Formats: sequence, structure tokens, C-alpha cells
Amino acid sequence: MKLARPVFLLLLAALIVLQGTNAQKRTPVRISPRSGTEHAIDSIIAGLTLQEKIGQLVQYSGGFSTGPTGERTVMEGRRTLIRAGGIGSLFNVIGAEETHELQRIAVEESRARIPLIFGLDVIHGFKTTFPIPLAEAASWDASVAERSARISATEAASSGIHWTFAPMVDIARDARWGRVAEGAGEDPYLGSVMAAARVRGFQGTRLDDPASVVACVKHYAAYGGAEGGRDYNTVEMSEQLLRDAYLPPYKAALDAGAGTFMASFNEINGVPSSGSRFLMTKVLRDEWKFDGFVVSDWGSIGELIPHGFAADAGQAAERAINAGLDMDMESSSFHDSLATLVAQKRVSVATIDEAVRRILRIKCRLGLFTDPYHGCTAAMEKATLHHPSHVAAAREVARASIVLLKNDKNLLPLAPKTGAIGVIGPLAHNRFDALGTWAGPADSNLTVTVLEGIQEAAAGSMVMYTRGCGIDDQDTSGFQAALAVARKADVVVVVMGESGGMSGEASCRSFLGLPGNQLELLKALQDTGKPVVLVLMNGRPMAISWEAEHLPAIVEAWHLGSETGHAIADVLFGAYAPTGRLPVTFPRVTGQVPIYYAHKNTGRPSDDTQHYTSRYLDVPSTPLYPFGFGLTYTTFRYADLTVAATKLKVSDSLRVSVTVTNTGSRTGDEVVQLYVRDDVGTMTRPVRELKAYQRVHLAAGASARITLAIPVTDLAYTGMDMKKAVEPGTFTVFVGPNAQADLAGHFTVMAK
Ligand code: NOJ
Repeated sequence: MKLARPVFLLLLAALIVLQGTNAQKRTPVRISPRSGTEHAIDSIIAGLTLQEKIGQLVQYSGGFSTGPTGERTVMEGRRTLIRAGGIGSLFNVIGAEETHELQRIAVEESRARIPLIFGLDVIHGFKTTFPIPLAEAASWDASVAERSARISATEAASSGIHWTFAPMVDIARDARWGRVAEGAGEDPYLGSVMAAARVRGFQGTRLDDPASVVACVKHYAAYGGAEGGRDYNTVEMSEQLLRDAYLPPYKAALDAGAGTFMASFNEINGVPSSGSRFLMTKVLRDEWKFDGFVVSDWGSIGELIPHGFAADAGQAAERAINAGLDMDMESSSFHDSLATLVAQKRVSVATIDEAVRRILRIKCRLGLFTDPYHGCTAAMEKATLHHPSHVAAAREVARASIVLLKNDKNLLPLAPKTGAIGVIGPLAHNRFDALGTWAGPADSNLTVTVLEGIQEAAAGSMVMYTRGCGIDDQDTSGFQAALAVARKADVVVVVMGESGGMSGEASCRSFLGLPGNQLELLKALQDTGKPVVLVLMNGRPMAISWEAEHLPAIVEAWHLGSETGHAIADVLFGAYAPTGRLPVTFPRVTGQVPIYYAHKNTGRPSDDTQHYTSRYLDVPSTPLYPFGFGLTYTTFRYADLTVAATKLKVSDSLRVSVTVTNTGSRTGDEVVQLYVRDDVGTMTRPVRELKAYQRVHLAAGASARITLAIPVTDLAYTGMDMKKAVEPGTFTVFVGPNAQADLAGHFTVMAK
């Protein structure tokens, strides 16, 4: 029977309505992450309404957006939006059960049935907390960062998370900037090593592995270049500096397979990153061939308005999406404006389709179209979080992150039977601040404090504890008790520094010494004549000149996470000889910042004996502790630097050898560092740049011949024409224990 056209259309409409009311019976869309993905994604896009497409580009926070009406209402609003296909991603919602229920709504109750992607800031752990990323970078060991990221991913994924807003790979050369804590420090080479390691850890070998989460490289780009070290502030820098010093870690993360990027809050040279076609399209897509998606930072599309880059939310959305930004975190500009912008032909449907395609690609690689729950179950979550093997790893990662800054007369390691040990300071028995910034869902009850670590390790000693003072106040009422403990002690371990919240987002400081009256107490403790070991906890380089001059031992412990106390005690009592090296330069005084080793020479290089040179009158030009610095319980000597071939073609490799000897009485690790200076360029070059390093483990008295090799192409830099090339000419190579290495050799790169 042939139906009349109006009847047929009516039946079809009824069928659609019926399907709509019978939503529970729908099965999720299925695409295999392996085969025919692009074709399948195209056919999904072809079946979406414009509103549903826009929905994929919208991301909102869950539980943390409480507001005056309370979390419940917020979450009910989110559920309605999910049902309507108005949202592609949620973040800050955790837990197998909660994420499961929201995902069920997406894949069973929405018309398009596209799974959500759940994001979270998994920065240095989940339930088990690892050291802050700056601390992990101090390990100078990629396997350390990869391991911590892998475990963090495993725990987060078991709790329903698919996507971490990490790694943060912003080069940071101004210690006032609080977010220096979240990255790998000042150096593009070390930063690239760590960036790639963390991506490998988060993503594993396959994104559809239930223990993997997709990484988000942030904050693209050069967020760490903020003027004055003040968060969110303006960045002005040459394109050459951007490409040579700031962009390499983002590129390294991409080369390691990172699936997503986050646009940064800052502007660079007049264009906010969230509206920068240069960054998101020219560099990221056209030059680097990135095929994943870019998410904004929290509200950063809306912030194009106060930046003075857009007149209203509509123009902000237009500029962001046309520049290559795919997902709007929290500003609502995409949700509110994109449909109108399409109708007005200010944004094309093809642009929207491309953004949807990039997002679906990542959802597909995560396997969400075959298993929207990514293998996560409540039972798995229970069995995974804070697993004893994760806690054991957190201890190993934490102790590998500690840097020994000073150790006069081998005061450390302490003997387990040391007599009486005084443990003093606002961070000595503080579970919360030891976790550091961005500790997310961590449970501070699980933190082992320094006091507890010492009590366990020094069971044969008498351990006396008092807090002494606060972190950032002027209360001196605890001083007397602290001095009384010190007078009774044979050695005093003082744990001081910054609270967890004194670094991280919006936590910049204009003074880099110990906050509050900690230094006053420290001086009084030193005056007792008892040997004082300072254990520093902090999220940035600090200006600790008095401490470095007067105290016999300083241990840089950063914020080490759940296993803080065990790791520090391992180092204090010698169960572990320190292996960490500074990933950042420590200034003598705050006024020296920004201070970093790879600076330019100037026409009047600083010389503290000459007036008319580039320097300050009131402080030496050198840092307190250079980049790459770190001691251990033995000492090393470097000798006999040789350059294998001193005339090299661009296609060759540079090979440099040195003999490293353990001159102390204990086995130890040394991190052998190679720096290169391009002596003369068509543009000026940094005084030296780290190009390679190698860890060597040597028994007391033993020597090893270490050879470091790099391709000559690693010496390329961006010239006036914006092209990267190695310029022929002479170079100086330095090998040694830190950025002040003075053993040098020379080589020439030939024109042909
Ligand atoms: C703002 C921060 O800048 C960014 O690092 C973070 O990932 C987002 N908020 C989401 O929490």
C-alpha cells in the first residue's frame, strides 16, 4: 500500500516522538576506537542538530559550582542540560557512582546519545598525593614523573575521570609567580623531558585502557611569562623567545601523544591566547599537526571582554572558535551565542563541525563509544584508591624529589640513635600543607608528617616536638617552648616554609623569604648553639640567604604529598642519599628575580668588581643556588673533558666525554649535565643552555667515563626570518654538576 505523503510524514513524526518517550531503551552509539573512526565520526556529526553540535563544545563544572542555590540545584540543571544534548563535558564531578549516573543520562536519555567526557585537575595525585610537579622535576628523572602520573591516572580513572587538566608545562622564570609549583621550572629541555614523561604516564599506551586518562597540555601558551610574576598578567615576548624557550615543552607533550590542549588566560603580544589564531591554528594545527581539541581555561573566552579583545559574549565566542578553540570551559559564551553567530554567518557550520569532530575523536580514542563508563565500577574504585602499592610509590617519588642544599661537616645523615631530637616548626606536624597546591580529592588524614616520619625512623632517640610559630603570622607565644625543646636537644630539625596555598593559582608573592615570623624563630633557635637542620617546604624557589649562610644543613623538600614524613626521614637518617637537583634558580634576594641561568650576556656582562656592568649595587650577580644544583652524601670530581670530533656538520652528533669520580666515602648518584653556548650568532644567544644530562651511580672511590651525545640539530634556534636553523660557527660546551659547570670544551659547526 502506498501512503499519501502527509500521512507518511505524520507516522514518521509519531515514531520520533515515541522514540523520544521511550528513551531508556536506547543503546549508546558505538564506534570502535580502532577502525574507521573518522568515517563513523562524520556520520554521527551528520545526524546532529546544530544545538547538539554546540552542546559538544560546552563544558561545565559540577560539584564545585555551588553558588547561592546550592550544589543540588546546580547538578539538577546539569542533568537537564545533558538530557537536552547541551553539554559535551563535565568536570569536578568525581566518584564511580555519580559519574556513572550522569553518563547513563547522556548515553540513554539524550537524543544523540553521545558520551560525556569527565575532566578534573589531576595535577600530582588523586587520593594518593605525590609531590608537586616542581618537586618531581627536581628528580631530573623522567621515570619518576611518569610513574607518579600513571598511578594518578589509575586512581582518577577508577573514580570516573577520563581527562586530566595536566601536565602544566609552562616555563617559569619568575619565582614570584605562584604557578611555578605546577610545572617543571625554568628550563625548556628539562621541561620537555618532564612534559613528555607525564603525558606517557597519564595516557599509558592506550587511551581506552581503563587505567588511562587523556592529558591536557596547559596553559597554552607562555602563561609563565607573566609580567612581574603576577598571575593572569600580560606577556610580552619576542616570537623567537616564545618558540625557543617557552613552546618546546608543549611540543614535547604533543609528540608524546597528548590528546588535548588548554588555552591560557594571558595575552601574548596583544592577543589573548583564547582568541589567538596564531597559537591555536598556525602553530598547533598547521605546523605541529595536532588533531585533538583545545579547551579554554575557566571562563577565559568570557575574559576576552575585560582583555578588551571582544565587545560582548557573542564576539568573544566568535573570536575564540574562529581562532581554533573547540570547547568552552564555564564561560557559557558558546552555549549562549554560537547558534546566533551561525545564523548571522559570523561562524560557519564547517567550523562548528570541525570542533565537534576533534572532540569526538578524543572521546572515541578513549573508547567511550564502546564503553561510556571506561571500565570504571564502584568496586574497582574501592580496590584502587590509596592502594598500598601507590603509597609505596609515593614515598619513592617523594624522596627522589628532595634536594640537599647544604650539609656542613656531614651533619647529615643523622644516626638513628641520635640522643634527643627536637622537631620544631609550623610544617613539622602539618598534614594539610604538606600536600601542596592542587591536591584535589586528597585526604589529608592520610598524610605522614615529618614528626611521624622521624619518630618511626629514629625509634632509638628521644623525639620532642613543638610547633613554635605559625606559617604566616606574628604570634611569638610558641617561641619559648621551642627554645626549651632546642636547649634539651642534641640536634634540631626545623620544618618551615610556605603553606600549600601560598603557591598555585592566584598565589603570587612579592617577597620570597620565609613568611610570618619564622625567620625570627629560626635565628633564635640557631642562637642556642645546637645544630639546626632546616627542612624547607615550599612551592617555589625561596630567597634564603641568611639560612644558607648560618645554618649547617638545609634540605629542600618542597611539598611532597602523602608520604612527606617517610620520605624526609629516609633522607635525614640516610636510608636514602639525596639525588635531587634544582629545576629552578634560587635567588639571593627577591629583587634579583627573574633570575635564570639561560640569560643573555648583554654588552656589559655582570662583573661585581666593575661598576658599569649589568648588575645590582647591593647584591652579587650570582644566584644563591644555581639551576641544576644539589648535594648528596658523597662528593664528585669532574675531569678530562674531551670533544670526540671538534669539526661537525649539521647532520653529525656532538659527543662529549668526562671522567666522573666519587671522591667521598659513600655510594651516590650524580647528575652529569651538559650545557652549550653558541658563541656568536646572527642573533644573540643565551650564555648557556642545557642540552643533555645523564645520571650515574658510583660506589665510593669509583670513576666512570661518561659520554653525552646530542644531534647537532639540537643547537638550532629561531632566527630573524622565524626559521629554525643551526648557524655555522664556534660553540663552547660545559659539563658539570650544575649550570655553573666550568669544565669546558670547544667545537665548530661547519657551513658544509
Ligand atoms: C583554572 C586553572 O588555570 C586551570 O589550570 C585549571 O585546569 C582550570 N581552572 C580548571 O580547574
